[in-house]
Amino acid sequence: MKLWGGRFSGRTLEEVEEYTNSLKTDHRLYTYDIKGSQVYAQALRKAGVITSGEERKIVSALNRIKKEMDSGSFSFHSSDEDIHTAIERRLVELTGDIGKKLHAGRSRNEQVVLDVRMFMKDAGKELLYSLAHFVEVLAEKAIKYASTIMPGYTHLQRAQVVTAGHHLNAYACALYRHLTRFQDFLERNDELPLGSGALASNTLGLDRRFMAEKLGFSRICLNSMDAVSFRDLLAEFTFICAAIMVTLSRFAEELILWASDEFSFVELPDEMCTGSSLMPHKKNPDVPELVRGKAGGVIAAAVALLALEKNLPLTYNRDLQEGKVHLFSAFDTTLASVNIMCMLVERLEFRRDILAGAAEDWKLLMTDLAEKLVQKGVPFRTAHEAVGKLVKHLMDNKESPVEIRDSELKKIHPALDPEDVKTLCPEGSVKARKVPGGPHPSEVKKTARRLLNLVKAHTKNKMC
Ligand code: ARG
Repeated sequence: MKLWGGRFSGRTLEEVEEYTNSLKTDHRLYTYDIKGSQVYAQALRKAGVITSGEERKIVSALNRIKKEMDSGSFSFHSSDEDIHTAIERRLVELTGDIGKKLHAGRSRNEQVVLDVRMFMKDAGKELLYSLAHFVEVLAEKAIKYASTIMPGYTHLQRAQVVTAGHHLNAYACALYRHLTRFQDFLERNDELPLGSGALASNTLGLDRRFMAEKLGFSRICLNSMDAVSFRDLLAEFTFICAAIMVTLSRFAEELILWASDEFSFVELPDEMCTGSSLMPHKKNPDVPELVRGKAGGVIAAAVALLALEKNLPLTYNRDLQEGKVHLFSAFDTTLASVNIMCMLVERLEFRRDILAGAAEDWKLLMTDLAEKLVQKGVPFRTAHEAVGKLVKHLMDNKESPVEIRDSELKKIHPALDPEDVKTLCPEGSVKARKVPGGPHPSEVKKTARRLLNLVKAHTKNKMC
């Protein structure tokens, strides 16, 4: 028997039941659906639609259904279209006519958005805590490698000298920003849709503020049609996941490069790498490669959610059922990726000697030299030109700055001081960059401590 069987004479085709069924996806919402139904029963009682005795019976039958679902003993029927239908069907089995009263004034259109909003509250918090922990791990690593000199890159060409701690803090900052995105998101998601009915609310005088309070929402949705129509919050949640995955994917790409023989900047932990079935010597960075690979799927999920809605008239359309598929897959992939990358970074070792060797390249210090000329009053464009000529001279003659003759230097530009040129070194370059947000070891430590402080609040308040 269908929840909506009254106006139909023919039986639904099995193929149609199968095609339209969403249980595979939405069964994971059952705790939220049951909680929502229990509070809805209380609101019906408050409005005089059911008696206290009926409310008690409904609430306790719903508790029993939850236990059945928790233990896996709940038996789903092929006619259960979705999780909401399955729970209501079982409720009626357990309580008869009393259970049939629960859906008064209510629609699955609002149930599904309620459940998904509750899911996103928990899922958002979970991701927020995982991000907080990852930022912590990165900041601690940054402190450990605060004075480890390495080359910094633009266009994947060696550019200027930085420290490994500075590089790690860059990722910590980006991930912290994603964390704050979830904070903003959770604030926007804090609205109860229940009471919206199918689209036009209800005639039963249900107390929406009461339901909001019971279900942990600080506000109610201001418009019943808005409440059931849109999936922009799912798209937003999924976008944050995609943004996180893009950050992780860039980090993964660097780890893959750094672990190659060509760079040899890092040693990835054996316990997080895999071998080759054919080549006995291989140690492959499969974890970061998969993070990079999975990022595409999460980006696709965000795009799918936007595309899903773009041609829909208000209010509910069945297309919207698909939204959950993308949301859940984005969440699952992102949470697992944040956690595994965090484990990888916890075990990451930089090879200080190789990094220092790579930063020995004198070209990394040429910007510093130009800035020295600027400090002597040479206009920057002129200084840039002069140092550019010096670079060309050194490269043409296969010389290093310590080898060039003083007279040659003066010929290139009179303000080029041999002392300045010959004393250039990576350590000096980093020391000179003692500016807030810069790569100097003490600044790296300051930034890392600031990040640790910022995330402390989140790891302390951990609720799930
Ligand atoms: N399974 C549906 C979904 O996920 C629930 C709402 C169905 N509403 C309806 N009128 N068919 O979107």
